[in-house]
Amino acid sequence: MKRSIKIFTLGIVALMTIFVLAACNSESGGKGGAVSVGIVLPTKDEPRWVQDEERFKAALDDSEYTTEILFSQGSSAKEKENVDTLISKGIEVLIIAPHDGAAAGAAVEAAKKEGITVIAYDRLITDTDAVDYYVTFDSVAVGEAQGQYLIDNASGSGVPLYLYAGAASDNNAFLFFEGAWKVLQPKIADGTFVIANSSEAEKLKDKSELTRDEMSAILGQVTTNWDPSESKNKAETHLTAVSDDLKGDVAILAPNDGTARAIADVFSSDPAISSFVVTGQDAEKASIQYIIDGKQTMTVFKDVRTLVTDAMGMAIEVLEGNTPETTGSYNNGEVDVKAKQTDVIVVNKENVKSELIDSGYYEADEFTGLE
Ligand code: BGC
Repeated sequence: MKRSIKIFTLGIVALMTIFVLAACNSESGGKGGAVSVGIVLPTKDEPRWVQDEERFKAALDDSEYTTEILFSQGSSAKEKENVDTLISKGIEVLIIAPHDGAAAGAAVEAAKKEGITVIAYDRLITDTDAVDYYVTFDSVAVGEAQGQYLIDNASGSGVPLYLYAGAASDNNAFLFFEGAWKVLQPKIADGTFVIANSSEAEKLKDKSELTRDEMSAILGQVTTNWDPSESKNKAETHLTAVSDDLKGDVAILAPNDGTARAIADVFSSDPAISSFVVTGQDAEKASIQYIIDGKQTMTVFKDVRTLVTDAMGMAIEVLEGNTPETTGSYNNGEVDVKAKQTDVIVVNKENVKSELIDSGYYEADEFTGLE
C-alpha cells in the first residue's frame, strides 16, 4: 500500500479545532439518547489499545454526543458483531481500528449501507471503498526512526541485525517495515550490518525499495503477529540457530513495545550476546520502565491524545454536517482515502522525562528510578 503523499498535522491546530468544535457542539445541544459515535478497537490485551480507550474516555468526558467503545479481542468475527451492534444503536459515525485490515471490509461495508461515515483509526482498512477518512500517525516515519536509531548506535561493521515485524494482516506492519528497510538497506549493502535471521531479507539486501510481495516474503519469516509469546519463541529459535559470530554486540529491529520487551528478555538471557540495541514503539508504560532500567533502548512515542482529538474532531464535523479537514490521502488498494496524519517522537533514556512526564502524558510516580 503506497502512501500517496506526505502530510503533517500540528497538535496545536488539532487542539484549537477541537475547542472550536466543542463550542459548536454545546451550541447545538448535542444529540443525547442514542449512540452517535461508535468506536471499535482491536484488543484489550495490548496496552497500546487500552491507552487509546483511556484517551478517548478523557476526551469524551465533556462531550454531549453519546459514544460507545467496543473491543474486538483479535477476532474479525467479533469486530463485525461489534459494528452490527453499534449500527443497531443508531450511530452516525464509526471510528474503527481494524484487527485485520482486509477482513474489516465486510463490517464497514455494512455500516456504509446504513449511511454511516466510516473513519479508519490508526490502521487502514484495505480493499474496499467503504472508508471515508483515515486518522493516523506517520507510520513510515516510525519505521525510519527505528532503523535510523539502530544505525546511529551501531559501531564498526558486520553488526548482526535481527529483524522482526508486525502482523501481515495489519497494513501498518508493511509501512513500518518499509520505513525501516529504506534506511537500513544501504547499511546492510555496505556491510555495516549482517542480517542474522532472514534468508528472504538476505536475498533482497541490494534492493532499496521492496514490493509488497517482497516484504510479505520477509514478514513470513520474521513476523511476530504482534504477539509477545510468538516474539519470544521466534527470538529463541533464532538465537539457537545462529553461530556465535552472529552474537556479541547486536542490533534488533523490534516493531513495537510488546514485542520488544519479549525479544529483549530472550537476548539478555543469552550469555553470548554482549550487548544489544532494541527498538520499539507506543511508549507503553512497561517499556518506559524498561528504558529507564536500560532493558529496552528506545521507543517511538505516538501521542494518542492527538489521534483521539483528530478522530473525534472529524466525527463531530460530520455530525454537524460539515466536511472534515484532511491533509492528504492513503491508497487502500481500492480508493484514495482522505487522511489526517500526525508526527511521531523518538524517546530514549535521555529524553524520556521531558517527552513523557513533563508533557503530562504520564505521571512520574508511575515509574521507578526516573532521574
Ligand atoms: C499500531 C501499533 C501497535 C500495533 C500492535 C499497529 O497497527 O500502529 O501502535 O503496536 O498495531 O497492536
